[in-house]
Amino acid sequence: MARAGAFYIGATCSSSSPLLNQSPVGSLCRSQLKFYSSSTLSATCSLRSSSSTFWKFDEVSVSFPKFDHRKLQSTSRIVVAMAADKTTVLVTGASGRTGSIAFKKLEKRADEFALRGLVRSEESKAKLGGDGIYIGDITKPETLKEAFSGINALIILTSAVPKMKPGFDPSKGGRPEFYYEDGQYPEQVDWLGQKAQIDLAKEAGVKQIVLVGSMGGTDENNPLNSLGDGKILIWKRKSEKYLSESGIPYTIVRAGGLLDKDGGQRELLLGKDDSLLKTETKSLPRADVAEICVQALLHQEAKNKAFDAASKPEGEGTITTDFKAYFSQCTSTF
Ligand SMILES: NC(=O)c1ccc[n+]([C@@H]2O[C@H](COP(=O)([O-])OP(=O)(O)OC[C@H]3O[C@@H](n4cnc5c(N)ncnc54)[C@H](OP(=O)(O)O)[C@@H]3O)[C@@H](O)[C@H]2O)c1
Repeated sequence: MARAGAFYIGATCSSSSPLLNQSPVGSLCRSQLKFYSSSTLSATCSLRSSSSTFWKFDEVSVSFPKFDHRKLQSTSRIVVAMAADKTTVLVTGASGRTGSIAFKKLEKRADEFALRGLVRSEESKAKLGGDGIYIGDITKPETLKEAFSGINALIILTSAVPKMKPGFDPSKGGRPEFYYEDGQYPEQVDWLGQKAQIDLAKEAGVKQIVLVGSMGGTDENNPLNSLGDGKILIWKRKSEKYLSESGIPYTIVRAGGLLDKDGGQRELLLGKDDSLLKTETKSLPRADVAEICVQALLHQEAKNKAFDAASKPEGEGTITTDFKAYFSQCTSTF
């Protein structure tokens, strides 16, 4: 069981049960259920699930460490009715190289997430396939309303994409030149477009935003900033700051160089303030970034954190599987 949801609890036992007239509301954690009612109750329950269409009725065995057990009488059977309220998550940039992997990963978790994706064209929609795909342009917030309406979580994987100017001939040496299309500069996409997403998500009352940014943002002279004169890392950093001050629980993942390699094969590294950029281990597969995004939605330890992400080369270190431990390493909020 790995999702959050409100639930209500009642006792199916004797009417003298002190629990019967209470409706504690709590939150679900992984494989354990914690609930709270008045300050007198605090319990951890082990959960055995069975399900029906809209509600789950789970029998739980409970112990109430702070409760007077003598008053419980025959309260051996407690029924928890839990609304099957899946987290509705929107992945933007869902046709992108990392976005499409995150989308596919979440598609496989259909019992936990109601999934939406935002892409820019009918063509991308058809290519991505699947349900819940909306078309919109983040530089035109009026095109985003439907996709954002009613969401509980957001993964931002949009980014301005520099294009190479035509006419570059590698055989002649030199460096290619890059440009951004009109209206799609980093200022419009990585700052204003991401700000628009954060604002719309806030209006929708989301519980968490995961934003993928980039390492390198501590240095204004990073070469990526001169690409197409877009100052991309500066604008990305501005939207990261905006998110961290938005009041919405967030996770900012500043990825190192992205690789099109298999995910789940490496030890993932977590750093801060671009310290990993000074090492040999400053890249990671897109599939691992996508997994970090998904896991961030599942772990409390990822909330209100900002960190750099990279990986050891495949075959070195220990493959990361414990994301609670991974996120727990992070102590920075920005
Ligand atoms: N490349 C690297 O080595 C590197 C390193 C560190 C961090 N990052 C960051 O990691 C993230 C993922 O990178 P990636 O290379 O996987 O991404 P990507 O393939 O370049 O995808 C970017 C996505 O953003 C979408 N997009 C751009 N402008 C948009 C707009 N105006 N409205 C709606 N969608 C828009 C694109 O849509 P279309 O599909 O329609 O073009 C695309 O799906 C990005 O934030 C990137 O900056 C990359």
